[in-house]
Amino acid sequence: MADSGGVLVVDALTKSFPLLDGRARRAVLAGVSFTARHGEFVSVIGPSGCGKSTVFSMLAGLDTPDSGSIDFGRDAAGPHCAYMPQRDLLFPWRTVLDNTTLGLLVRGVPRAEARRRARELFPIFGLSGFEDARPAQLSGGMRQRAALLRTVVQDRDLLLLDEPFGALDSLTRTDMQAWLQEVWQRYRWTVLMITHDIREALYLSDRVVVLSARPATVLREVRVELPRPRDLSILAAPEFVALEKELLGVLHG
Ligand SMILES: Nc1ncnc2c1ncn2[C@@H]1O[C@H](COP(=O)(O)OP(=O)(O)O)[C@@H](O)[C@H]1O
Ligand SMILES: [Mg+2]
Repeated sequence: MADSGGVLVVDALTKSFPLLDGRARRAVLAGVSFTARHGEFVSVIGPSGCGKSTVFSMLAGLDTPDSGSIDFGRDAAGPHCAYMPQRDLLFPWRTVLDNTTLGLLVRGVPRAEARRRARELFPIFGLSGFEDARPAQLSGGMRQRAALLRTVVQDRDLLLLDEPFGALDSLTRTDMQAWLQEVWQRYRWTVLMITHDIREALYLSDRVVVLSARPATVLREVRVELPRPRDLSILAAPEFVALEKELLGVLHG
């Protein structure tokens, strides 16, 4: 392990997928490297279709790179990540509580224990009283918090959040960002979050990794050393605006 504080070292990942004709291949990742330290909030930003979700599916063990390595820095077997996919569906016929225990049940955690662990988080996730509701009875923001609860309750080393607020209207999105910062400060999860929103990345993160268009490489990494907790006024702070300009330049320059 190169970095003793690291929970994740991703080194030189490459990946290509076969095109429909079955002969040619499309290069998606052309050597992607980055790290995440314990308790760090890292955002991955890059143009649509550049391979961000592909990186996450490899971290989650759902796909394998053509070359390169992923090191979780522990020899414990089994999955290290809890993955909240880009389109995270709650099952409409299950109650909210039964949706949030799914990941634990799949791992063989007994139902009563899974429910106890999930229930504990309901107040923190603003879902008290909705344990027995169906997902259709929740607002968009509540549904995303339920999906996040299902991810967090698995208690893994690393949370992978793939555009968790992508489908929300901008007011709800802003509320959710503030809320996520608050719970993250409380629990200090190690988070890797995909977004294509520069402000969201800067507001929430300790570090932002910028990917190029496909085939993806890392164009820039910026450290966000703004004090926490950050409130919305930080968006107008000169340091924030300077970083935003820098990232805009990298992404569009
Ligand atoms: N399983 C797959 N088979 C073929 N092509 C894929 C597969 N998964 C992703 N791709 C292609 O890889 C590229 C990157 O996809 P993705 O990682 O989803 O991008 P992003 O999340 O950055 O928007 C896209 O061109 C997509 O069509
Ligand atoms: Mg994606």
